[in-house]
Amino acid sequence: MEELRLREREAGLVPEAFCIAPAAVAGGLSQDIDTPSLVLDLDAFEDNLRTMQVLAERHGVALRPHAKAHRCPEIALRQVALGAAGICCQKVAEAVPFVQAGLRDIHISNEIVGEPKLRLLAQLARKAHITVCVDHPVALKALSAAMAAHGASVGVLVDVDVGQKRCGVQTPDEAVALAGLAQSLPGVGFTGIQAYHGGLQHKRSLDQRRKSCDKAARLIRRYLDALERAGIACPVVTGGGTGTAVFDVASQVYTEIQSGTYAFMDTDYGSIDWGEALAFRHSLFLLGTVMSTPTADRAIMDFGLKSTSAESGAPQPVGWPGLRCVAVHDEHSILQADDAKNLPVLGDKIRLIPGHCDPTFNLHDSVVAVRGDRVEAIWAISARGLSR
Ligand SMILES: Cc1ncc(COP(=O)(O)O)c(C=O)c1O
Repeated sequence: MEELRLREREAGLVPEAFCIAPAAVAGGLSQDIDTPSLVLDLDAFEDNLRTMQVLAERHGVALRPHAKAHRCPEIALRQVALGAAGICCQKVAEAVPFVQAGLRDIHISNEIVGEPKLRLLAQLARKAHITVCVDHPVALKALSAAMAAHGASVGVLVDVDVGQKRCGVQTPDEAVALAGLAQSLPGVGFTGIQAYHGGLQHKRSLDQRRKSCDKAARLIRRYLDALERAGIACPVVTGGGTGTAVFDVASQVYTEIQSGTYAFMDTDYGSIDWGEALAFRHSLFLLGTVMSTPTADRAIMDFGLKSTSAESGAPQPVGWPGLRCVAVHDEHSILQADDAKNLPVLGDKIRLIPGHCDPTFNLHDSVVAVRGDRVEAIWAISARGLSR
């Protein structure tokens, strides 16, 4: 916020007298938070961190939470303080604020192509232990050359396509060849394989997720066998998300899981079948204010697509029976009540669960951390917008 104000002042956009007040102050009341704001319920959030950490530890598997879910160093520091092995980032630039905040073990769970990114990666790798994904010898050679040229080194995880049909090598032979190449090149070292399957995470049925995870684990086993036959040790097998964590930790193939959303939950994950498997609580909310009630069954909120993502569905109100968010426009959202008695009144502040937490975090400068009716802290979402 300070930085924003400074930038605005420097650009002559906002005379000092018009400085925008912060949406919340530490120690203030939750009900006084200005809207739209992203709010984190610390009790639920901390429960979620513990639940996943305990699950991983019980199975002797490391937890490396995906920071792409939140892009907030304060959150990552808490995950690591509870026992996480490090964090994942999806982009090189995204990792910068985390390294600046003191995180020293970061896996970039993605392919990295292009000189500016490799240069930045080398800079980060001189400060922290960094691993990255590769799925092509040309990219691996470019990575090696860049690291060697800048006096840095990174660990390499061969990305394996276990059915997602996104990045990743397609055969165990390709994986063995890449691993061997990584062993022979300067500036890189073979660390293991990444086997992430995003398509399985949101499958509605728990049983379907179990069966799909078993299938993926059998495929991963073929890769591990091929590496072993080639005499290449594979210390790390990383992957897994919130929806499959319970199966991945028991799979006997993963050495670490990369779940991200578990800390917050969103309506998408909230709607899948969890059975008795795990109980994560909704901890992340978009706080909005009713700015208009033009009819007896319609309330218009003061947030829209610039404050919430909607590609996985509109955010939904909590604690308001009979009220649903039916449309999200640029700066407005429309709540529809099934009955006039369920309609909020002008000025009411309403908490909504975002449809998808990752892109929603990316729309905010900060998240307001609350405990009960008090604001405990305001945390910067420092990696917001850092998508290169
Ligand atoms: C490579 C990778 N790992 C882990 C995750 C975390 O998944 P989730 O937020 O569903 O737990 C993602 C999410 O898209 C991902 O792309």
